[in-house]
Amino acid sequence: MARKTDRGAVPSARPNVALGRGGDGTETAAWICSRQSTSPKLLAPPGPEEAELETMIRAAVSAPDHGRLRPWRFIRIADAGRDALGELFADAKRRKDPDCSVADLERERDRAARAPGLVAVVACIDCSCDIPEHEQFISVGAAVQNLLLVAHAFGYGARLVSGAKTRDRQLCAGLGLNAAEELVGFICIGTPVKPARHRSRPDPGDHLSVWSRLPGREEQ
Ligand SMILES: Cc1cc2nc3c(=O)[nH]c(=O)nc-3n(C[C@H](O)[C@H](O)[C@H](O)COP(=O)(O)O)c2cc1C
Repeated sequence: MARKTDRGAVPSARPNVALGRGGDGTETAAWICSRQSTSPKLLAPPGPEEAELETMIRAAVSAPDHGRLRPWRFIRIADAGRDALGELFADAKRRKDPDCSVADLERERDRAARAPGLVAVVACIDCSCDIPEHEQFISVGAAVQNLLLVAHAFGYGARLVSGAKTRDRQLCAGLGLNAAEELVGFICIGTPVKPARHRSRPDPGDHLSVWSRLPGREEQ
């Protein structure tokens, strides 16, 4: 319901519709639901151009953000940095699993090279402020989703990947993170080599309930 503003005017209940961008939302919702992650193994060139990536980041940093803390940071991994990132991945694997095989290390190096576009997502959580940490992490997640949706809008396939290595502090330091920052993962972006297999989605009814009174109270 539209609330009165301080000046007494009743704002449009649906300002986006007034701007001609809303409709009934069904089409936009269907389009959002059409986004599916693509395995980095199925991502080929071309990846996003500089301007497209900037547009993705613009959408990402428009995410809901309690207290305007901007609890995120994005690092584009340049092509020139792929080999060095591969070595960081291999070193992290060696630290976690000292008995790993040469093939395991090669697989880790390969992960750094797969997707044409690669963006590290960093959570910069401020533990000293009044905004709870979980709210800040939610902002980071929303930023990731905005980025994924814009990648989808440009026709790219993408997936957020993480793994144990994201918790390896030496790897994080190698990427330039400070001790207070968390490496959430990497967003892999590229051109899907084949259409994604349809992924079933949960039934909204299984995830929505309605609250109208305290438990145990009779209906009025
Ligand atoms: C924080 C986070 C980390 C993830 N890490 C991985 C990962 O390491 N490997 C992976 O295959 N999927 C990972 N996923 C899941 C994928 O990003 C993706 O959500 C999943 O494949 C489902 O695909 P969908 O986006 O089409 O629903 C992660 C998701 C989140 C939110």
